[in-house]
Amino acid sequence: MAILSLEKIRKVYDKGGNPVVALGGVDLEIGKGEYLAVVGPSGSGKTTLLNIIGCLDAPTEGRLVYADRELRGLGERELSEYRKEHVSFIFQSFNLIPVLTVIENVELPLVIERKLKPTEIRARARELLAAVGLSDKEGRYPRELSGGQEQRVAIARALVKNPIVVLADEPTANLDSHTAEEIVELMRRVNQERNTTFVFSTHDRLVMEHARRIVTLRDGAVTGDERR
Ligand SMILES: Nc1ncnc2c1ncn2[C@@H]1O[C@H](COP(=O)(O)OP(=O)(O)OP(=O)(O)O)[C@@H](O)[C@H]1O
Ligand SMILES: [Mg+2]
Repeated sequence: MAILSLEKIRKVYDKGGNPVVALGGVDLEIGKGEYLAVVGPSGSGKTTLLNIIGCLDAPTEGRLVYADRELRGLGERELSEYRKEHVSFIFQSFNLIPVLTVIENVELPLVIERKLKPTEIRARARELLAAVGLSDKEGRYPRELSGGQEQRVAIARALVKNPIVVLADEPTANLDSHTAEEIVELMRRVNQERNTTFVFSTHDRLVMEHARRIVTLRDGAVTGDERR
């Protein structure tokens, strides 16, 4: 069963009065628990696709269906619930808050949500830090970590609310190739243990080798879809 269906998704940007077709009618079904890499040359539409799946950006045309419900048809409250609870993002630049400690960064989504008590939030954040192998760093600040450790904190933060789908736009772009492999292996472990769906873009051959499915974009169209 597909958790996400993209039907004829088109995205046209306006670049100084000229239309730029970033996605030219993409059809894609993503199953729950998939571990999917989106690859393709620079400008092929990878970031645009991830932003549309995460509802950070709206398609010009086409339908995005999540768990059998068309997202465009949802009310503001449900849409914001999708964005806050069902999907989360990992960025290539980690985007940690420098004045917060490692554990405070991981807690932040739960603190904003204000559903759990502080002691519950702390326990949950500790569980996630343990899962990414950084229990000993909880009191550190992001600047005291290596790039790979920062990205592991960002992964813990992305997972703290137990999202159904994690979207990652070139999560390993700022890492050396060895650390990049560690990060994709960590995401894969989470994918297997929690059945979290991962959709990530990458330029890196080593990183795409770890994917279970590789969707290739070229000029805003899907030109390849390989399962392995
Ligand atoms: N905000 C924008 N305004 C105008 N054009 C845009 C905008 N964002 C993206 N584009 C254009 O849409 C196309 C797809 O861009 P996108 O960023 O999705 O590609 P990408 O595959 O992520 O590239 P990269 O590998 O360099 O990150 C490109 O032609 C780009 O110039
Ligand atoms: Mg991009």
